[in-house]
Amino acid sequence: MKIQSLRGMPDLFPEDLERWHIFESKLSKIFHSFNTSEIRTPLLESTELFSRSVGNSSDIVNKELYSFLDRNEESISLRPEGSASVIRAIVQKKQEQEKHKLWYQGPMFRYERPQKGRFRQFHQVGVEYLGFEEGIAEYELISMVLQINELIGISDYTIKINHLGDNLAKENFCNSLVSFLEPHVNELHEKDQARLNSNPLRVLDSKEQSTQALLEDGPKFQDFISDSSKIFLQNIVDTYSDHCDIQIDQSLVRGLDYYTGVVFETVSKKLGAQDAFLGGGRYDNLSKQLGGKDMHAVGFAIGVERIIELLNIENMKQPLKVGFIISGEQINKKTYKIADDLRSANNNIILDASLSNGSLKSQLRRANKNNCSFAIIIGDEELKNDQVIWKDLSESGEQELLTSKEVIEKYTKL
Ligand code: HAM
Repeated sequence: MKIQSLRGMPDLFPEDLERWHIFESKLSKIFHSFNTSEIRTPLLESTELFSRSVGNSSDIVNKELYSFLDRNEESISLRPEGSASVIRAIVQKKQEQEKHKLWYQGPMFRYERPQKGRFRQFHQVGVEYLGFEEGIAEYELISMVLQINELIGISDYTIKINHLGDNLAKENFCNSLVSFLEPHVNELHEKDQARLNSNPLRVLDSKEQSTQALLEDGPKFQDFISDSSKIFLQNIVDTYSDHCDIQIDQSLVRGLDYYTGVVFETVSKKLGAQDAFLGGGRYDNLSKQLGGKDMHAVGFAIGVERIIELLNIENMKQPLKVGFIISGEQINKKTYKIADDLRSANNNIILDASLSNGSLKSQLRRANKNNCSFAIIIGDEELKNDQVIWKDLSESGEQELLTSKEVIEKYTKL
């Protein structure tokens, strides 16, 4: 029997990754322009890191963590997200009192029920700004989100934003929500009853219409947070509402326990049920929770599989491709030297060498199939005369004979 990949852990083939590479190259320019530097942390961490950060009552830690005992009987887990590891790394290096603008990317693991846009191994690109108190950092991150969406051609999206206040506000709101819901517990769906017990704030996220109807008369976050928090949130919305669809959503609490302050998500209707392609917020308490000193922290992470779905590559310039075909009987070192010289002369062009002894016709067919715009053909005759054939693969099919020096000149100017 053939071995299959694990459920929810898809392979990514070259044709899938074409879109990923476009996304990654655009993103690296944005990170560069914001002076944000890359950090890489391990895929495996101690399980305690996630229970103390993402939270024991969260679905992510409770039900979705890939945890196992290593050979030393220590409980370790595949990371379900990146923020906890970044804070762990900074605390470990005793750099909590410095300022950091960091980004990271890589696979994350959550044992969820796979469906469209939801995987067990998925990828995130995250940004964490550490050491910056509430204020301009939030603006800078929302600006970055807008720039990312613009650069990759996403216009049809909504930013949902909320303010969770400080710890006390969150706790008071939570208590008030529990007192409000408890008399109605029998009207709640089973899933929401479980949430009410384990993590009451998550009831706000419920997809059940009856729960949402009930919540309409329930307590509102806005009544628990300070006036300055309300004004801050409103100012962000006012600043960006000319540039994008940004809306305060009082039911936005996010699925990770570490947030306080501003939280946000970007959603797109084009994605179907799993519509959030980016999420983040402030989590100033995490450093202390992990044994470090006080450190402000705010950031977000993009779900790469989801944002890739939205990438509009039609309008993006694709690199030019040229086929390199050796059609002679014998390949000698002079032939391949031409390919070397071409690549050194202009490495913006993809030179796709056919690497086969097939007939000229079949090699040309392959170059066409691979979307080459031109082909450079070297047969025995051309080799003898130090020439190549330059063939236009568009409908005109024109071709000309060029010396090896001329072909380099032409190739450089493409
Ligand atoms: P999160 O909302 O759990 O936040 O994940 C961020 C994004 O990862 C989501 O918006 C979604 O696009 C993507 N995502 C999550 N789970 C899956 C899945 N099973 N399959 C595919 N995509 C998925 C965090 O992880 C926080 N660490 C973000 C953050 C950074 N907050 C502050 N800094």
